Amino acid sequence: MEQSSMLQLILFTLPFMLLLSYLIFKRFPSPKKYPPGPIAWPLIGNTALSITESQVHLKICDLVKKHGHVMMLKFGVVPPMVVVSTPETAAIVLKKQDRICSGRSVPHSVKVPGYFEHTMVWADCTEHWKVVRKIFRTEMFSNKMVEAQTSIREEKVRELVRFLRERELGEVVQVNEVIFGQNVYDYEGKIDNEKGMKGIIRQLMVLAAAPNLPDFYPIFGPLDLQRYRKITTDYVKKINDYWAGIVKERRATKDHSKNDFLDVVIQAGFTDAQINTLFLEIFGPGSDTSSCTIEWAMSELIRNPDKLVKLQEELDKFIGHSREVRESDLENLPYLHACIKETLRLHPPVTFMLPHRTTEEFQLMNYTVPKDSQMLVNMYAIHRDPKLWDDPLSFKPERFLNSPVDYQGNDFQYLPFGSGRRICPAINMASRSNRFLLASLVHNFEWSLPDGMKPSELDMRDRFVLVLAKVVPLKVVLRARSASAF
Ligand code: HEM
Repeated sequence: MEQSSMLQLILFTLPFMLLLSYLIFKRFPSPKKYPPGPIAWPLIGNTALSITESQVHLKICDLVKKHGHVMMLKFGVVPPMVVVSTPETAAIVLKKQDRICSGRSVPHSVKVPGYFEHTMVWADCTEHWKVVRKIFRTEMFSNKMVEAQTSIREEKVRELVRFLRERELGEVVQVNEVIFGQNVYDYEGKIDNEKGMKGIIRQLMVLAAAPNLPDFYPIFGPLDLQRYRKITTDYVKKINDYWAGIVKERRATKDHSKNDFLDVVIQAGFTDAQINTLFLEIFGPGSDTSSCTIEWAMSELIRNPDKLVKLQEELDKFIGHSREVRESDLENLPYLHACIKETLRLHPPVTFMLPHRTTEEFQLMNYTVPKDSQMLVNMYAIHRDPKLWDDPLSFKPERFLNSPVDYQGNDFQYLPFGSGRRICPAINMASRSNRFLLASLVHNFEWSLPDGMKPSELDMRDRFVLVLAKVVPLKVVLRARSASAF
């Protein structure tokens, strides 16, 4: 055949060939590439790895080393869990694909009628979520509101210091017990005074995080074999009954000049049921996160006496020996701020964010993430990555002095409060109250370990129970410092 007729043949057949290959590929698309992970067995998936136990963060980090920074796990018959463990992949989940990744994966126990419909924390990004979130951001936790609540927080911390002063003569104090709920956004301190209320709030959080059969096999939902839904329902009722009286009283007075959280939501037209749910959402995430931050900060400072001395020196130099710490001092205490930041790096309380859910399938790097996957951002691994942090396992507040890295959600290597749509709405308040509480404790007391325990013997193991807590709670003996003004 001549060369020119060969060319004609090719040109003639080419469009048909292209059409044919298009049709074949359309009919049989290339298989989707899902993120790698350990072998998932039919029906049980990766349940045998016991990833749902309290050492979950360490197990996940081990698996990430093996399977990579985008990893997929399967539990039971529900959609998979996808774990991302680098700043780049976290930025995709929390920024680039934030709209798709901002749903919530809701535990079975939480879906209590009369509570669940009004929740903000467990809601997808619905209109209701937007309205409540806006109230959180612009009213309850706005700079103006946080500022207006200063005197309440100061009074509460003073109360705590007085309480601790009475225990300073050799009595052993368990730090997380005295601090739980201490520095959360307060409603006249009543939640603390009510016997058993702290315990109920803590139990509710533990139940939401506990492995529950229907979360892996929804078919067992109606049976509620572990009774988690039933217990949650009872607790929610108890809390509702407690708040109902307070809300009724405030509605009756028609005096909303206090302009606190309750006034804000009453004036926004919230029903009693909505208000009860919101109370829980404020006291729930706020209490444990703050108390465990202070407990870890104290533990790190006791283990690193040179850092403790540096902090005491900063406080003594700026505040002196004749007055108490005030919230207005905080801006002048950079080392204190660095201590809190470093604590949140090593011990981020909400280690994997609250569980996000994908509302659509999407591409993450080269992988397909199915719709309804649970997305975990592995802050634990990111905050301890030696490629990102020098000497990452050591407590070195100095790394945050003169550093632009902050926790407002723009630095994906450091995300203690999250980022994007679901970022913690209480950052400003939590940041202030954590610093203020730590400053007051360090300024007022010398802390030592009981029974002659050496700082190097302090048990620093952590466990994941919704927040990253200490396995062995910190217990201390207090002695007033001469610098104390109380
Ligand atoms: C050290 C203190 C705290 C830390 C480290 C912290 C961290 C976080 C993180 C990582 C999230 C999840 C973000 C996500 O799912 O993507 C979150 C959510 C949330 N936090 Fe905080 N938080 C703290 C204190 C507080 C306090 C004191 C309150 C309230 C008084 C609070 C209220 C909330 C609420 C309501 C959400 C859910 C937001 C939503 O789902 O849209 N947090 N927090």
